[in-house]
Amino acid sequence: MFHLNSIQDLTETQIDALISLAEEIVRDKAKFREACRYKTLATLFYEASTRTRLSFEAAMHELGGNVIGFADAASSSATKGESVADTVRTVACYADIIVMRHPKEGAPMAASLKSPIPIINAGDGGHNHPTQTLADLFTIYKIKGRFEKQTIGLCGDLMFGRTVHSLIRALSRYNDIEFVLISPEELRLPDYLKEDSLNRSNVTFRETEELEGVIQELDVLYMTRVQRERFFNEADYVRLKDRYILTRSMLRNAKEDLAILHPLPRVNEIAVEVDDDHRACYFSQMLYGKYMRMALLMNMLEVSL
Ligand code: CP
Repeated sequence: MFHLNSIQDLTETQIDALISLAEEIVRDKAKFREACRYKTLATLFYEASTRTRLSFEAAMHELGGNVIGFADAASSSATKGESVADTVRTVACYADIIVMRHPKEGAPMAASLKSPIPIINAGDGGHNHPTQTLADLFTIYKIKGRFEKQTIGLCGDLMFGRTVHSLIRALSRYNDIEFVLISPEELRLPDYLKEDSLNRSNVTFRETEELEGVIQELDVLYMTRVQRERFFNEADYVRLKDRYILTRSMLRNAKEDLAILHPLPRVNEIAVEVDDDHRACYFSQMLYGKYMRMALLMNMLEVSL
């Protein structure tokens, strides 16, 4: 059975097919409004979410399916000590597919070993967030029309940022991609990702602490939040949280067709004044995420019109 744990579970051809389906859905939403009739999605969120959970729920509703689940483990029998594996076995009696977010790295993957129905990883700790990457890829494709031949700046928390990790894994497979990794020393990209994804694929990358020194080179700038929930020490979080704040004046030297992405939620790292800039793509990115999740649900539930 196919589970989506990592973006590497999808080939480039499969990603292309999901993008084509998402485009078809955007073009003719009415055609798909019963595509998942009689199918049920269960959303098991052991960690907070707005976009991922609600866009999956909206996606299933727009495909004519049903949704059950919990938005907070505190309202589930996890509080009584039930294991994730037993919860999944239970939910499989009531649903056809599970979307799971969990603060522990690997939890959705471990659950998938016990699950009789497909599981989609909706974010596991600081590890992976493959459906955010599908949203990011669709956004880049819609705006740039290609993945190849681009300089991609990734800025902020590259250490714990699961969206960054998944995006690097995805884009490293395309030709002529160059990454500029912009972070404080303490939040640099983990070495295992540099080895597994960048060096192994001969992808050009460099590391810097200065956003303003490189912004003029970038085709895509992927801003990220410094995540309070991943820090062990509040003082470190406070010291690093406002290290990067993208302002309108910083965009003076940026390319006219720069695409500014952010998985959201944002805190301070993009000033609100940037929202009106034609290069700000992070609100469309949220919407594109819903269409890619519709395409993914159809694909994993093996439904067609
Ligand atoms: N981008 C993202 O995962 O947002 P949420 O935490 O709101 O789901």
